[in-house]
Amino acid sequence: MIEIKLSLNNIGKSRRDASNWLKLNYVVTLQLMKPEKHVYPIFDSILGQKQKEQLLKQKASAFWFTGLSGSGKSTIAIQVERHLHDMGFLTQILDGDNIRSGINNNLGFTLEDRKENIRRISEVTKLFVNCGVITINCFVSPTLDIRNVAKQIIGPESFHEVFINTPIEVCESRDVKGLYAKARKGEIKDFTGISSPFEQPKNPDLEVLTEHKDIEASARVVIDYMLPIISAK
Ligand code: ADX
Repeated sequence: MIEIKLSLNNIGKSRRDASNWLKLNYVVTLQLMKPEKHVYPIFDSILGQKQKEQLLKQKASAFWFTGLSGSGKSTIAIQVERHLHDMGFLTQILDGDNIRSGINNNLGFTLEDRKENIRRISEVTKLFVNCGVITINCFVSPTLDIRNVAKQIIGPESFHEVFINTPIEVCESRDVKGLYAKARKGEIKDFTGISSPFEQPKNPDLEVLTEHKDIEASARVVIDYMLPIISAK
C-alpha cells in the first residue's frame, strides 16, 4: 500500500509528462500483481493433521537432533526409529548426509548454504508432520540462528530440540568418516568444530550426554522423552 501511495504522489508531480504517467501506471499495476504470483494455495480444503493423526493413532512432531559431525545423531536415530516402529509408530528419519546427496546436493557448508539446507528440510519436515508422521531430523545445524529458522518454519509447538552432546575430542577420536583428520590437514574447509562454529543449544528440550552411554542407552533416553509427546491421547 505504501509503495502505491508514493507512486501516486509522483504521478501528481509529473502530470505534465504523459509518458511518465504511463510508466508509473505500469509500475503500480505490476506492484499490485506481484504478491499474488498467480498461486492459489488449497491449505484450507485438504484433510488436516488431526485427521491423519487419528488414522495413524499417534501425535506428529519433529525431533530435531543437533550436534557435531560424528556425535552419533544418525546412529541413535536409527535405533530410536527401530524401537518406535516395533511399537507401531510411523516415523521418518531425515539425515544431513542423505538429504545432501539428493534434494540439497547443490549446497555446500558455508553458513549461508547450511541455512538454506535447513530451510528446505524444515519445509519438507512440515509436510511430514502435517501428514501425521513423526520425524527425526539429524542435522549438525550449528548455530542458534539456523536452528531457530527450523523452529519457526516447523512451528514451535511441533519442534523439539534434542542436543546430542558428544565432546569434540570424542568425535575426533572416533572419526568414523575420516573427516576430522582431513579437516585438520586443511583438506576440508568450513568444518564444524574445527574451522566453522558450533554454538551449543542454550536451552534444549532434551540433552543426551553420549560419552559414557552405549547406543541403546542413548536411544532409551530419547524414546522416554518422545513417548508422552507422540502417543495418541
Ligand atoms: S548442516 O550444518 O547443514 O546442518 P548437515 O547435517 O546437513 O550439516 O551435514 C553434515 C554432514 O556433512 C557431516 O556429518 C559430514 O558427514 C558431512 N560434512 C562434509 N563437509 C562438512 C563440513 N565442512 N562441516 C560439517 N560436516 C561436513
